[in-house]
Amino acid sequence: MTDATLTETRNDHSDDTAAWWRQAIVYQIYPRSFADANGDGLGDIPGIVSRADYLAELGIDAVWLSPFYPSALADGGYDVADYRDVDPRLGTLADFDEMVAALHERGIRVVVDIVPNHSSDLHEWFQEALAAGRGSAARERYIFREGAGPDGDEPPTDWTAAFGGSAWERVEDGQWYLHSFAPEQPDLNWDHPEVREDFLKTLRFWSDRGVDGFRIDVAHMLTKDLSEPLPSTVELDAMPHDGNHPLHDRDDVHEIYAEWRRVFNEYDPPRTAVAEAWVSTPERRARYASAEGLGQAFNFDLLVADFDAEQFRTVITDNLAQARITGSSTTWVLSNHDVTRHATRYGLAPLNGRTGVKQGVEWVRDGGPADQLDREGGLRRAHAATLLLLGLPGSTYLYQGEELGLQEVAEIAPEQRQDPSFFRGADFDGLGRDGCRVPLPWTASGASFGFGAGDAHLPQPEWFAEYAVDVEEADPSSTLALYREALRLRRLLQTEESLEWVETGRADVLRFARPNGWQIVTNFGSEPFDLGAEADDLVLGTLVDGAVPGDSTVWLAPQGLVA
Ligand code: BGC
Repeated sequence: MTDATLTETRNDHSDDTAAWWRQAIVYQIYPRSFADANGDGLGDIPGIVSRADYLAELGIDAVWLSPFYPSALADGGYDVADYRDVDPRLGTLADFDEMVAALHERGIRVVVDIVPNHSSDLHEWFQEALAAGRGSAARERYIFREGAGPDGDEPPTDWTAAFGGSAWERVEDGQWYLHSFAPEQPDLNWDHPEVREDFLKTLRFWSDRGVDGFRIDVAHMLTKDLSEPLPSTVELDAMPHDGNHPLHDRDDVHEIYAEWRRVFNEYDPPRTAVAEAWVSTPERRARYASAEGLGQAFNFDLLVADFDAEQFRTVITDNLAQARITGSSTTWVLSNHDVTRHATRYGLAPLNGRTGVKQGVEWVRDGGPADQLDREGGLRRAHAATLLLLGLPGSTYLYQGEELGLQEVAEIAPEQRQDPSFFRGADFDGLGRDGCRVPLPWTASGASFGFGAGDAHLPQPEWFAEYAVDVEEADPSSTLALYREALRLRRLLQTEESLEWVETGRADVLRFARPNGWQIVTNFGSEPFDLGAEADDLVLGTLVDGAVPGDSTVWLAPQGLVA
């Protein structure tokens, strides 16, 4: 099939059914760092429009946009000052409409990020709450409390925020407000009917503009039991995560999502939603994925797993079992805007065998010593893991730049960093998350590697040139070429949502078959894995003397399936 026919097939909306999301490839755009059309150093919505053909050629089904709303960027846009507008630095609502039209024309759906746990401190509600003073109705939309200690000058509890420091901030009149993340991100009070109403309005606002789905930020934290006396951190830590924990993954959060689902179902096709829910077990996660709720939930198990056959197999088996129970489809993700890129995580493998996200964090925190990173090996393993993922039933979320094989950027000076977790001393992500948010290289030369006409808002290292889109487009053996080919073939090979494991006789080789005979073989070890006569069925990947080399994946398909 030529590229032209492929585009035609995708544009006829033949897959325009309520189930489009089940096995979709969703590409995450971090708008500030994707493409900068006006040259101010920040990526913007017209920049996305200018790259619509690139997205279509990649062969994705949908884009998910991280926040593009008006924001002081205290947390990269996850501090939203107005939920129903576009940041003027990123464009206008008219630009947004144009972007939706340009993507829809190319058969690409649009998912936007909703940040309901907290607003920005610049949101009109929070400004009103500050001005109105203690005891006012305006303060009820947030979580204000009196302080502890004789003069109330100590925070109400000893809770720490996710980005470090106290989870409480004091305002001028002496009261304190809760912020689970940065102080510029006050937590909303989800017991308040106006808060609930307003988000329904936001969901309809974007749905009416043609948005196809939503990604729900920290979906597990909205409802809280803040009855007095408030527990201490030690007490909180001792409480089970069984749906009654005061702050996390409470059962009552699902009342909110049931209401949202009714709104999503007002549309045809129904709007979709995926929960970002860091919860304790796949069983707890399944609640977010129910058809009466958000419908799908991120499975982050592979972010924290090592490049290891046994760990991959366990994660896959457990999550497919969960999907069968909820009736949802599984989600797969190796990279996003919050974690060290997987090509880098896997490049740390030779160090000590650990390749999960914690290992990446340690490396970033230590300043990314170049001699500890095996870039080539990391990229090889990243290809292997990605091709395995793309063969699995369910939907896969790709993060911008991974299709270029980009590595994490560790060499960012402290004064150039932006992530609040870096400044507030959170220890969970070392030097913070800026290293995976550096603007994309589109061209090997020119201002900001073709990102825009000016300097990019985060510094791009010299080695970005090797990964530039124009370099990779000219190279049939590039990561970009591999992603394009994999996504093209995946569309042709797509089949029912199940798999069967095939015995390999090797603990470090995974092999599974999909119902139509498509097979995926991943060699996590270093010894080649011989395929015998089946080598003739190779459709993707590279064999050496009929064997799957170490750290690689191949796809096999019976003759004729992809003719
Ligand atoms: C987002 C982060 C953000 C946090 C607070 C997350 O889980 O993915 O980027 O900092 O929520 O909104």
